[in-house]
Amino acid sequence: MAKSLMEPPFLFLCLFILALSSLSFASGESHGFSRVLSPKTLGLKLEKLSHLRFYFHDIVSGRKPTAVPVVRAPEMSNNHSLPSFFGLVVMMDDPLTMKPEASSQEVGRSQGIYASASQDELSFLMAMNFVFTQGKYNGSTLSVLGRNRPLTDMREMPVVGGSGLFRFARGYAQAKTHYFDFKTGDAVVEYNVYVFHY
Ligand SMILES: *[C@@H]1O[C@H](CO)[C@@H](O)[C@H](O)[C@H]1NC(C)=O
Ligand SMILES: *[C@@H]1O[C@H](CO)[C@@H](O)[C@H](O)[C@H]1NC(C)=O
Repeated sequence: MAKSLMEPPFLFLCLFILALSSLSFASGESHGFSRVLSPKTLGLKLEKLSHLRFYFHDIVSGRKPTAVPVVRAPEMSNNHSLPSFFGLVVMMDDPLTMKPEASSQEVGRSQGIYASASQDELSFLMAMNFVFTQGKYNGSTLSVLGRNRPLTDMREMPVVGGSGLFRFARGYAQAKTHYFDFKTGDAVVEYNVYVFHY
């Protein structure tokens, strides 16, 4: 009996099982195209909470607008009983600055779209990336997807992710209109963003 355990087929099976188990131990639980990783593998240490504050300049007037309408619903142009601009889609590349003044230092851009998504009131679907261009955040981005009713005092939008230093980001952005020009439609909005990231 003891002798038959030492026979090549059985020995080979034992070695094979041993090799397999050590392999899956090294790379975590494996399912062919996916595996479980320790966060340390990606250099992720302690999660931290950051607060960013900047001013968003939405310039729709003049010769160099930073936000331009790209789609208008057909009934919008001649229907003044539709105060919500339902169907309007605006593409923006809005500067983000340190202070409210346009001449203040730019820290990034807000690139994306806002679209009027309510038939009854002014309410935008915001889909935008904050693209930072200063200091250690240069090149890092935060992605925001949410609902924005610009005529209300404080709006809140989820931060759904990020890149660079903001990988794994989640949090929220609060928007408060700092200045609105009723004649031109230009606006300066204060953003306070709270995000967890590594
Ligand atoms: C304008 O919009 C209102 C509200 O949706 C609608 O009832 C009305 O038929 C529209 N008028 C025109 C001329 O499109
Ligand atoms: C930000 O990064 C870009 C690309 O790497 C670089 O060209 C630029 O000079 C950097 N800006 C600052 C302010 O560091």
